[in-house]
Amino acid sequence: MVTAVRLAKFLADAGVASRRASEEIIRSGRVRVGGEPVLDPARGVDADDDVTVDGRRVGADPVRRVVYAVNKPAGVVSTASDPQRRPTVVELVGGPERLYPVGRLDADTTGLILLTNDGELAHRLTHPSFEVAKTYRAVVSRPPVRDAAVRALRAGVELDDGRTAPARVTRVAADTLELTIHEGRKRQVRRMCEHVGHPVVSLQRVRIGPLRLGDLPLGRVRLLTAAEVDLLRSAGPSRNASAGSAPRRVAASLRSAPKRGPSGSGGRGGRRAGS
Ligand code: URA
Repeated sequence: MVTAVRLAKFLADAGVASRRASEEIIRSGRVRVGGEPVLDPARGVDADDDVTVDGRRVGADPVRRVVYAVNKPAGVVSTASDPQRRPTVVELVGGPERLYPVGRLDADTTGLILLTNDGELAHRLTHPSFEVAKTYRAVVSRPPVRDAAVRALRAGVELDDGRTAPARVTRVAADTLELTIHEGRKRQVRRMCEHVGHPVVSLQRVRIGPLRLGDLPLGRVRLLTAAEVDLLRSAGPSRNASAGSAPRRVAASLRSAPKRGPSGSGGRGGRRAGS
């Protein structure tokens, strides 16, 4: 018996886009099942269905699932394309697969971002219900950061879109904080720091769930190993450096990429390592 899955999940599993982006693609009328346009992301389909996006058959061939880690430079956007024609993380990776970024970093944030064609994994790492922790290193203005500000960030602060969940916060220098959060609201860390009187000067993501940026140079890309991907798949509140608890063992830390091209900011191509 063939099992039906939601159309949005079917597209995500086929590597078309993340589950949420697939829902948008369906609603915009680009998807047909058996030749008929379908606008409902929840419509059930199975492997025997003829599903097309923009007229191209989807799901007929098994897709090799890949996950890349990128150390994103400032000025590079974490969308697949940019109307302002700024460089994108997808261009940094290059290669034949149809990849999309897992979540977002602000254009001016640097650090760890993942790209994949694995819709299930992207969903797991970004959907708030899985509470996958992300750790950021923030250099802030108006140092020193006092205990009261650290305590407020740990307890949660009232932002214009609601109170933030408790965060794990470490002061690593008078002007530098490490914050671990699992929410993913827009510009959340910047707004949290600003709220306690310390606007962010620079922000870097150093960890996603069990995966640390390590010494992957800025602008470089590395294909994750199967073991690292398995670890990410099991990321969640119990496998995280979750807010309020001591950090658990970090299972994977990205090593320096072999020198195959210039490291540094911006640019595209020639930066994939270990792929
Ligand atoms: N929080 C922010 O403020 N910016 C990011 O890019 C990520 C988290």
